Parts: sequence; C-alpha cells; structure tokens
Amino acid sequence: MSIPGLQIDSAFRKPKASTQQGAVYLAKSPGETFRSARGMARAWAESLEESRRMEKVRAFMTKVIAEYAAGIDWASSTRAPVEFTGRNLDFSASALALTVAKSAVPLDAITASYWLSVTYTAMLPDSIRSSLGAYYTPPALSARLLDLATEAGTDWRTCRVLDPACGGGAFLGPAALRMAAGLKGQSAQAILSSIEQRLRGFEIDPFAAWLSQTFLEVALAESIATAGRPLSNLVSVCDALQQEPRGDAFDLVIGNPPYRRVGLSASIRERYKRGLYGRANLYGVFTELALRWTAPGGIIAYVTPTSFLAGEYFKSLRSLLAGEAPPVAVDFIEARKGVFENVLQETMLATYRRNWLTGKTTVHHVTVSLACNGLLRRRGQGFFGGIFPDAGG
Ligand SMILES: C[S@@+](CC[C@H](N)C(=O)[O-])C[C@H]1O[C@@H](n2cnc3c(N)ncnc32)[C@H](O)[C@@H]1O
Repeated sequence: MSIPGLQIDSAFRKPKASTQQGAVYLAKSPGETFRSARGMARAWAESLEESRRMEKVRAFMTKVIAEYAAGIDWASSTRAPVEFTGRNLDFSASALALTVAKSAVPLDAITASYWLSVTYTAMLPDSIRSSLGAYYTPPALSARLLDLATEAGTDWRTCRVLDPACGGGAFLGPAALRMAAGLKGQSAQAILSSIEQRLRGFEIDPFAAWLSQTFLEVALAESIATAGRPLSNLVSVCDALQQEPRGDAFDLVIGNPPYRRVGLSASIRERYKRGLYGRANLYGVFTELALRWTAPGGIIAYVTPTSFLAGEYFKSLRSLLAGEAPPVAVDFIEARKGVFENVLQETMLATYRRNWLTGKTTVHHVTVSLACNGLLRRRGQGFFGGIFPDAGG
C-alpha cells in the first residue's frame, strides 16, 4: 500500500545518495478551530464535578459523534447506548460539541476518528486516563505499523486480525480498509461478511469500545450503505487479560497495549508467568497475551516502549520472544516528546513472527516531526542478528 510518503534515507549502513527514496507518512492535522474547541472541551470537563464528570464527558462525546455523523451524511446504525446519552448538556456544551464535530467533518475518516477519540481521552480525569493507559496511536504511526505487518507477510485478503486493547480503533479502521482493498471487485456484502469473520477488538473501557465500533462503521460506510445492512459488532467490552483463546488464533495481533507498572492477581500472574520476572508492566503482559492469540507463523505488530530491550524485569519476556516469536523488524521512534500526547517514552514499532527461525531483524530509525503532527521520516536501515542480546535472539 502506498502512503504519501515515507522518507527512507538508506544511510544507516551505506550512505549512498542514489539509493535514497523519499516518502513521508503524513497525517492531515485538524485546523485551529478544532484544536481550540478541543482545548475548551478539556477545560469544560475539568470544571465538572468529579462524581459526574465521566457521564457528562460521555454524553458530550455522543453529541459530538451524532453531529459528526450528520455532518458527513452518515446514517449511523450504532446508536449510542442509553447509559452514555443520559445526561443533558447545557447550551454552551452542546454548542462546543457541535464545533468539535463540524471541524472534524473535512478530515478523512481515519484522521477524524483519531482526533475525535483523543478529544474523548483528553477529557478523562488524569487518574482514569493513566490507569487505562489511554494514549491512542496517531494515524501516521498506525499506518507505518500496518505496513510493517504487511512487509512481514500479512495477507489482507485472508488474515484474521485482533487488537486486544483497541481504544478508539486506531488499528481496526485502517485494518478493515486494507481488508476491503484486498477484496476489491467483490460485492459490498461479501466484503462486509469477510471483515466480520476476520476482525476483532477487545477493549475494557465500554465507551472507547463503542467509539471503536462506530469509527469502524465510518471507515466502512460505503460498503455498509451499498450492502444495505449494518456491520455486526466486532468489538468486545472485556478485560483482555481474562480472555482465553480456546482455539481462536489470529494471523495478526496488532496494537498499542497499555503501559504501566501493575500489580497482578495470583491467577493472572500464573497465566502470564512465562514472560514475567519480578515487577510487571502491562505492556509486557499484553505481549505474552499476543503470543497466546497468534497462530503459528502469525505476526505480532506492537507499539511499545523500548524499555523491555534491556533491564532485569523484562528478561523472561525477551527470552520468550527470542524463542517463540523473534522480531522481524523494528522502527525506533526518535522524537519521543509529543508522539503520544502527555507521554514521555522511548517508543518503538515492531513486528514479531511466531516460530520464525531466521532471526535477522531489520532496524530503522524513524523521526517524528512535531511541526506537522504525525509525520514520520524513516531513515537508515540495518540488520541486527541479536536485538535481544542476552536471549540470543
Ligand atoms: C495505549 S491505548 C491504545 C488504544 C488503541 N489500540 C490505539 O492504538 O490507539 C491502550 C488501550 O488499552 C485499554 N485497556 C487497558 N487495560 C485493558 C485490558 N485489561 N483489557 C482490554 N483493554 C484494556 C485502554 O482502555 C486503552 O484504550
């Protein structure tokens, strides 16, 4: 899939001007009106009484989505569940919701989904946001990770795909579009049925799960309209750590799992013990979870902090990955501040393949420009035989 345009400077090993290719993953940024309306929405949320904040925020966002749906002429089949719409908004909050919605209308479906979903997370109380790890992936990074998954061998015509912590659907919508593109020429009905059989999301926050499903429908609006039927629900509200695969394996497990140190119950610790050593971080547990859900030969594609590449607490996880799903490709993201809003982390995108034995990892360094939100510039390719040196991977 060609995305306008990824900048690849093949300078990492052999700097040769003639081999330089230009390409940049460029996500359209919303205009100033959107940015300031979003800032005002956050300020409004912060002014709310703590006990009523979550329900008001959700009522605000359902209003935003309803207005956005009207703005793009999309007859939504997924009505907001009544528990999200129960609160009445006053006149100024309703007007603000309308401004947010209207300024997202000119954006493409994937960009609009991102900006609307991060409007929701920006309005969450900080404590809830960080306990959920609700820092959604910008479109340029999700496009890049989906490309890495393609390069690692994902066949969008047939693959089964799971995002076990799907948030606002940063990966589900783009994955659905790639599946649809792979089925070009088939009827809308056949395309929808195929996607329904092959795409799944888990999400613990019921409102985010509803957003994910809604944005999936926006991405597939054309096929849904042509087929004349709604999309069935592909997102389960659940604690992914409690789910058991029961023979339900996926060819691609993709996502940006939540990050934070966490105390685990004895049963969860027992279930994920192969990748645990000492203090657990949720993203490590979600990496082992991905191994459990990925079919033999299948691919894991994750956005994670780089911290697990070194450090005592991740040594079991490194050995597990080296033995069962070595990394195929890694992009180190060089600009860390502002890649994910309010998060200061060294971040990487990586693909791993289950039961892959060749063990040579392609490595890129990727610069994210903050001036143009979501722009990725890829430079330098190299191969590392042992990205997990202590595990021999
Ligand atoms: C870093 S965000 C990423 C969301 C989305 N995949 C993206 O890339 O934008 C992590 C998500 O994990 C969800 N989450 C946290 N704990 C979870 C759990 N135990 N089971 C399922 N989802 C969980 C959070 O609510 C949040 O939406």
